[in-house]
Amino acid sequence: MIAANAQGLQGTVGLHEFCVLANEQVARDTFRLEISSLVAKRIQPGQFMNFAVPGDPTHILRIPLSFSHADAPDSHVTMYYVTVGEGTKRLSSMRTGDISTVVGPCGKGWRLPEDLSGRCLLVSGGIGLAPIAAAAGMLSDAGIAYDVIAGFQTAARIPERLISEMEPLLADDAKIHLATDDGSYGFAGFTTRLMEQLIAEHSYGCVLTCGPEVMMHGIAAICAREGIACQASMERMMGCGFGACGACNIPLVAGGYASCCMDGPVFDAKEVAW
Ligand SMILES: Cc1cc2nc3c(=O)[nH]c(=O)nc-3n(C[C@H](O)[C@H](O)[C@H](O)COP(=O)(O)OP(=O)(O)OC[C@H]3O[C@@H](n4cnc5c(N)ncnc54)[C@H](O)[C@@H]3O)c2cc1C
Ligand code: FES
Repeated sequence: MIAANAQGLQGTVGLHEFCVLANEQVARDTFRLEISSLVAKRIQPGQFMNFAVPGDPTHILRIPLSFSHADAPDSHVTMYYVTVGEGTKRLSSMRTGDISTVVGPCGKGWRLPEDLSGRCLLVSGGIGLAPIAAAAGMLSDAGIAYDVIAGFQTAARIPERLISEMEPLLADDAKIHLATDDGSYGFAGFTTRLMEQLIAEHSYGCVLTCGPEVMMHGIAAICAREGIACQASMERMMGCGFGACGACNIPLVAGGYASCCMDGPVFDAKEVAW
C-alpha cells in the first residue's frame, strides 16, 4: 500500500527557459545534463520534463526526460540520457550557455511507502537509474532505508558518475548492487534474478522500479507473488506531455486506459495490465 506524499506539492505544468550548465558524456551513448531553470523549484522525484532541442525545425516533438537530482534553491536540475535517435543526438551537442525551453513539471512521481518503517528495494534497468536516483533522494530525506539493484547491458554503459552521486545517500548497511546482462561487471544476469536472491535474504516492504517494460513486468510479477507493494515508472512515446493528444495510453487491470503523462509516469504496478 502506498500513500501520497509529495503528490500534493506537485505543481502545475508550465513553460520554462533553461540554460545548459554542463552536458558531458559519462558512459557509452550516455550523457549527464545539468541545467539552470525555474522548473527546479517545483519538480518532484519521479516527475519528468519535456525538452525542446534546437537545430531541426521539422522535429516538433519535445523529448521527455526524467531527472536524477533537483536543487530548488540554486534552480539546478540534473538529467542522465541515452542517445537513441535524432533528438537525443542533437541534445548531446548542446553546449554550456545554450538556451532553450522545457515544459514541466509533468505527471505524477514516486510516492512514499505508507509503512515508513519498511526497507525499500529500488530496481533499475539502463538509464532508468536516473529517476531511481531521484527516488533514492526522496527516501533518504524521509529516513527510509533502501537497497538498489541497477542493471545494464554491459559495463561500458554503467554511468559511474551517477552511482557516485547516489552512494553518499546510502544508509550504512545499504548497497547498490550492479548487474550486467553479459557478465562484464558485477552480477551476471538480469535484475529479476538478482532480486530473487535479495528477497530471499532480506525483507522488503516496497519496490520502486524503472527500466525496460519487460523488466518491470518481471519485477511486478515477483512483487505480486511476494505481496510486496510496487511502483513502476512507465514509458510511452509522448506527443504533448500534458494530456492533450491521447498518445500515451497505459492499459489498466480495471479496464480502460490511463494516460502515462498525466496519471503517471509512476503507477501502482498492480493496476497496470502488463
Ligand atoms: C516519462 C519519460 C521519461 C523519460 N526519461 C528518460 C531519461 O531520463 N533518460 C533517457 O535517456 N530517456 C528517457 N526517456 C526516453 C526518451 O524520451 C527517448 O529516448 C527520446 O524521446 C528519444 O528521442 P529521439 O528523438 O532521440 O529518438 P527518436 O528518433 O524519436 O526515436 C529513436 C528510438 O527511440 C524510441 N523512442 C522515442 N521516444 C520514446 C519514448 N518516449 N519512449 C520510448 N521509446 C521512445 C523510438 O521508438 C525509436 O526506436 C523518457 C521517456 C519518458 C516517456
Ligand atoms: S503525451 Fe499527449 S496525452 Fe500524454
